[in-house]
Amino acid sequence: MSEAVQNVAFIGLGRMGTGMARNILKAGFRLTVYNRTATKMQPLIDAGAAGASSPGEAAAAADVVVTSLMDDRSVLDVVTGEQGVLAGLKLGGIHIGTTTVSPGHAARMADLHAAHGTHYVAGPVVGRPDVAEAGQLRTFVAGDPAVIARCDGLLHAYCQMVVNVGEKHQVANSLKLAVNYMGVSLIELMGQVYAFGEKSGIDPQHLKLLMATMFPQPQLQEYAERIRARDFDEVGFALAAGLKDVELMLQASLDARVAFPYASVIRDKFLSAIAHGMGDRDWSAIYEITRMNAGLEWARGGRPS
Ligand SMILES: NC(=O)c1ccc[n+]([C@@H]2O[C@H](COP(=O)([O-])OP(=O)(O)OC[C@H]3O[C@@H](n4cnc5c(N)ncnc54)[C@H](OP(=O)(O)O)[C@@H]3O)[C@@H](O)[C@H]2O)c1
Repeated sequence: MSEAVQNVAFIGLGRMGTGMARNILKAGFRLTVYNRTATKMQPLIDAGAAGASSPGEAAAAADVVVTSLMDDRSVLDVVTGEQGVLAGLKLGGIHIGTTTVSPGHAARMADLHAAHGTHYVAGPVVGRPDVAEAGQLRTFVAGDPAVIARCDGLLHAYCQMVVNVGEKHQVANSLKLAVNYMGVSLIELMGQVYAFGEKSGIDPQHLKLLMATMFPQPQLQEYAERIRARDFDEVGFALAAGLKDVELMLQASLDARVAFPYASVIRDKFLSAIAHGMGDRDWSAIYEITRMNAGLEWARGGRPS
């Protein structure tokens, strides 16, 4: 169990996955990539990665497979499909799951791998695509400590901070949902305050200053600025995908019997925003629904005219 990881497969080259894969390559690992839409593999192939024609082919070339997919369903399909990860990964191989999935899914993945003689590490990530591109993500990892230790160099290739939360895989994903609940609640709160400010005659520059003082963390600053400027065109996290995260939060709160009341309010805003054509905007575009509810001028599709 002590040999160093050299061969890595990366599956899912979306907004997050592309930057993560690029940093793994830069760190000197031998990388094989697979993406459902094959054209997205080309920039990484040009940079020195090998391309695979199925998840199984990518996994067969690797000691460790990293997945960055959309949700529980897409991960399950990619892992258990006829030409899926389990069909290719050799005995003792490792799968690191970075997708934001339900805690129950993480436990199920661990069982599937254990039955197959392979290992699962739950490793959801925190940070937006620009942070992924910079190799500065944070991750919560859970699983067998010896397996995680083998992956240390790999995890640090795409993360600035690796927090080991123990052996129960689902805990890493519960923690990720807790972080996202706080994040999206703050986005909602900032929107409410900007709408209140506009109707009450508060200078938006004063709100900007206040938020810079209260929320100095760079990602929260970026959200505050997007909301102030109503700039949702450059998508870090798509609103339609964000609804998936809010539903995961609500299910997790139900399972734990701990109410997440803001998640219910926010879910309804996501539904309205999607109904008004904002599904492909950044998820902070829910501010437009806050504006509509407040009787302020608002923009269908999240694009002020
Ligand atoms: N964006 C963020 O700020 C952020 C931050 C932290 C965590 N996350 C989480 O990271 C994950 C990826 O997010 P993202 O923003 O990178 O999403 P994205 O840009 O939409 O990328 C999704 C990736 O999953 C693939 N995929 C989706 N459904 C699939 C299926 N059924 N079979 C095979 N491949 C499939 C897509 O392939 P195609 O290219 O073929 O569509 C693409 O490679 C999500 O779970 C998200 O919640 C996102």
